[in-house]
Amino acid sequence: MKQKPTIVLGVTGGIAAFKAAQLTSNLIKKDMDVEVIMTKNATEFIAPLTFESLTKHNVMVSTFDRVADRSVKHIAIAKRADVFAIVPASANVIAKIVHGLADDMLTTTFLAASCPKIICPAMNTAMYENPITQRNIGLLKEYGMEVVEPESGFLACGDVGSGKLADLNQIEDAIIMACIKTKILSNKNVIISAGPTQEKLDPVRFLSNHSTGKMGIALAWCAKALGAEVTLIHGPIKERIPYGVNAIATPTAQSMLEAFQNQYETADVIIKAAAVGDYRPQNPSSEKIKKHEDSLSLTLQKNPDILAWLGEHKRENQVLCGFAMETEQMLENATAKRKAKNCDLLVANNLKQVGAGFANDTNIVTILSDSEPIELPCMSKRNVALRIWEEIISVMKTKGVLVC
Ligand code: CTP
Repeated sequence: MKQKPTIVLGVTGGIAAFKAAQLTSNLIKKDMDVEVIMTKNATEFIAPLTFESLTKHNVMVSTFDRVADRSVKHIAIAKRADVFAIVPASANVIAKIVHGLADDMLTTTFLAASCPKIICPAMNTAMYENPITQRNIGLLKEYGMEVVEPESGFLACGDVGSGKLADLNQIEDAIIMACIKTKILSNKNVIISAGPTQEKLDPVRFLSNHSTGKMGIALAWCAKALGAEVTLIHGPIKERIPYGVNAIATPTAQSMLEAFQNQYETADVIIKAAAVGDYRPQNPSSEKIKKHEDSLSLTLQKNPDILAWLGEHKRENQVLCGFAMETEQMLENATAKRKAKNCDLLVANNLKQVGAGFANDTNIVTILSDSEPIELPCMSKRNVALRIWEEIISVMKTKGVLVC
């Protein structure tokens, strides 16, 4: 049985071909086996030796390369592929693959492969915006392929516009997500909140907290990888939004509440991982507050409790998961919060524990539900997120929201 997922990476002729080398290196560091197939034109932009050094495999260019084991190489690779990604994908190769042309090693293997396929176009703006290319890209999607849309920016030809290869982190997300075969959350809508809120004090100051949004983002990443349609309602964060996740930025508690009020009805699952400020300045100043006296008192006004609102308005077949951050009596406080806010699940952590809480890449949590509390050891936030999803999925099954 093979241990590592096999990613077949098709590289076509375009200036962005050099970025495929960085992507290859990133995937190998994530413990993936990468097989590279290049078009002849791609070899004009970057040498096969670069990929061979990174992957420790021969790069395939011609269908008629002689191979030692005499296997039908393109069929053997197509069968082994867990994911087939073309990065960058030129207009020419896109046109060929949507029409089933197979006239070189890349297009032949691509046609023979039945695994998930990811296409990352990169080309000059006019070529990209040409209705022929747009129609072809539409066809890729109709055939069920994932298209990681290019960005706008400065292109090698000197133009500024769309057609720039998507960010490599987004492409990497799309590839790793495609390796996860269980799409148990497909057709499910998930809304997750993440990050802090910022409450304005004057034009230069605000009240906020140390949340970075990492836990909510890890939950969003996993939900997307499991096939859900995911919306992330987030406060001011610096973290990258995962590939394919819809993002709504809400700086304050009030704006976060409004975003939830607009969206919550469509959600099968809501996870409230944001660190919402409990209070805001009652009378924010429109001018900078000047220093005069030795002390200054602020009057704060209570913010709406968004999770409590969601708990009140929860539909019978909706699953609601809250978080609780405590510094003392974690279990008692968190258990009371779960009841008071009508949550199916509540994930509690003690900020005083080393490895838990804000800004870390790890967390130590206890998951509370109608069953016994589940205490998890210190784990990466991605793994904590996966465990939380296991529990949410089990509640979804109990509620009949998921039938499988
Ligand atoms: N929460 C919320 N709106 C608020 C405050 C909190 O939606 N105004 C949510 C958080 O997103 C989290 C849960 O409520 O899912 C618990 O948040 P936490 O800060 O632990 O507790 P609080 O309810 O604010 O109570 P306290 O600050 O007294 O511990």
